[in-house]
Amino acid sequence: MFVRILSALPPFAALRCAVLGFIALGLAATVCCANEVLESFDGVNYAGWQVRGDAFGDSPATGTLPGQQEVQGFVGAGLVNSFLNGDRTTGEMLSEPFVIDADHAALLVGGGRDTERVFVELVIDGERVAVATGAESEQLAWANWDVREHRGRTARIRIVDNATGGWGHLLVDAITLTDEPIRAPGRDALLAAYRTSAEYLREPWRPQVHFTPEIHWMNDPNGLVYHRGEYHLFYQYNPFGIAWGHMSWGHAVSPDLMHWEHLPVALWEEGDEMIFSGCAVVDRGNTSGFGTADNPPLVAVYTSHRPGNQAQSLAYSTDDGRTWTKHAGNPVLDIGEADFRDPKVFWHEPTERWVMVVSLAVAKRLQFYGSDDLKSWKLLSEFGPAGAEPKPNWECPDLFELPIEDARGRPTGRTAWVLEVDMGGGSVAGGSGGEYFVGDFDGQRFACHDPSQPAYWVDYGRDFYAPVSWSDIPADDGRRIWIGWMNNWETHLLPTDPWRSAMSVPRTLSLRETADGLRLVQRPVRELEALRGPEVRQLETVRVLDKGEEASLVVQQPSFSPLDLVLECEVQDDGFVWLDLLAGGDELTDGELANDTEATRLRYDASTERLSLDRTRSGEVDFHEKFAGVHTAPLTLDERRLQLRIILDASSVEVFAQDGRVVLTDRVFPSPGSHHVRIGGAGAEIKKLQVWPLRSIWRDN
Ligand code: FRU
Repeated sequence: MFVRILSALPPFAALRCAVLGFIALGLAATVCCANEVLESFDGVNYAGWQVRGDAFGDSPATGTLPGQQEVQGFVGAGLVNSFLNGDRTTGEMLSEPFVIDADHAALLVGGGRDTERVFVELVIDGERVAVATGAESEQLAWANWDVREHRGRTARIRIVDNATGGWGHLLVDAITLTDEPIRAPGRDALLAAYRTSAEYLREPWRPQVHFTPEIHWMNDPNGLVYHRGEYHLFYQYNPFGIAWGHMSWGHAVSPDLMHWEHLPVALWEEGDEMIFSGCAVVDRGNTSGFGTADNPPLVAVYTSHRPGNQAQSLAYSTDDGRTWTKHAGNPVLDIGEADFRDPKVFWHEPTERWVMVVSLAVAKRLQFYGSDDLKSWKLLSEFGPAGAEPKPNWECPDLFELPIEDARGRPTGRTAWVLEVDMGGGSVAGGSGGEYFVGDFDGQRFACHDPSQPAYWVDYGRDFYAPVSWSDIPADDGRRIWIGWMNNWETHLLPTDPWRSAMSVPRTLSLRETADGLRLVQRPVRELEALRGPEVRQLETVRVLDKGEEASLVVQQPSFSPLDLVLECEVQDDGFVWLDLLAGGDELTDGELANDTEATRLRYDASTERLSLDRTRSGEVDFHEKFAGVHTAPLTLDERRLQLRIILDASSVEVFAQDGRVVLTDRVFPSPGSHHVRIGGAGAEIKKLQVWPLRSIWRDN
């Protein structure tokens, strides 16, 4: 309904607060003067509007439409959402005429960013006098038009969707006449309020030994670099909301890869440029000239994402990463492609130049470039398509040399190269995940040892994506360490608030000789062990597992603490062993948990040689239809010996089997009180069982 209702202030203010999620933090938006809501799109139809085409339907949408990322930030029951039947539909809506009787017109807008094809405009006498678009985000934000010079004139609002490709849709809501522009409470105020709240980094599902942003949305790790005693962690970040959008680089630093200090946003979205994934290096020789010989710069290489174009750009810092300047000559590598992203750069000593691996994402081809100064790049070679199919794309590559260990984990003194790359869908456990190739790199070209190699999976769980490794770890340390985004694009809208997503535990990498050839090994970094408290002594002395599905309690935790758990078993050829992690139940009888309510079950079966992680009964699983599931890895034992190391946090399980040869990472959302660990099985003998509580990285410094 297009009506002129003088909205009573308190309800409108309250609505805005509720929608933007501020009530929980006790923050009210400042609304000082009369707002006249011209259109709320909360009615059952578009009364008062002329509607053409098939993009808008007969009535306002009530939120997210099928196939769309989560729509956020609209007010009340409905909004205009032209994603009806996807981006391909088009149309136009024209309002009734109205008289401008305020200084500003404000409206919520989201979706595509194209002032010629996907926009909302204010029209007087048939002429556009103001226009607004979304920011390629499903999160609506306030747009304000200063209409003082048009006061007293008659105008109309026109909403246009004439685009059929990516981001070919618009979201519009709450068209308002107001004497003051409407602004959402600032991010800084929100963060300040959160920092002083009792819940600060203590929510029930807030990981306690994994990195998370304080508030809002995070995806891929970016710009991992070690410099002057600090590990830098940048990450894909939406400074304005809890869903993907406005991509910028968040920033944190740590002395030990465990305890993180949250720093201000390092690289902001600007104009129509979003800051997509990339890397950072210490430019020791000041080849870029951004620093000096005495103070070599940190240089970030990132993807500038603009509508229809992705190109590689630079930013630099000469104050230990605290402030960043975007290079005036950006972009430094633009080949006119729409899907060309996620550069990873390293110094290749033998050829004495920088090498970049970057992805032609939709073509599923990786390109290698060389440069002397980080500014001008020359194409060296290409790799792919290769590996798993079908997959929609390839993103976030990394390339590095690793030491090879023998089958028993002893150094051989030899090395090989690993090329890792991630697919946005179609991975081993469903949805997004990573694969890797083993071969050699001569500074020019990556040659796979086995050109016909199938996909080698990085992680058999669902929640380990876009891992990248730290640059510039000192040679006397010598480790190659990476961290991954503990989430999956298919099920990424996890039920947490006011933040979304976590990083994995940092993992040290190597290659191991196996019967099948060289395979990647990942182990939690040794720094994690420093978080261990005294070993848990309440273990029951179960040694031989012979009771099948009957459980023995290993750890009873009245309140949650993260755990580091090591289990070694000898498993007979027909034996099996399982662990119920984050298990819930009412009471303890004879060392067992009664009224079993839920658990995340890890199970190894010797007859099928399968290790599986089952989160169908792990607590909150209904928020997405693809979330509940069992994720399985093939696993052959040596001499019947099963080795497991498990890192359990408030909403994650990471399983490192056979000393890191097979890894499974899953997010889980247990009910309050589901903190226990139980063990069961048959035909298995426990050789080692150790459990340590881990101190919180946020609280127990
Ligand atoms: C992978 C990815 C990258 C891109 C970034 C955008 O998760 O799609 O390819 O740079 O996310 O946030």
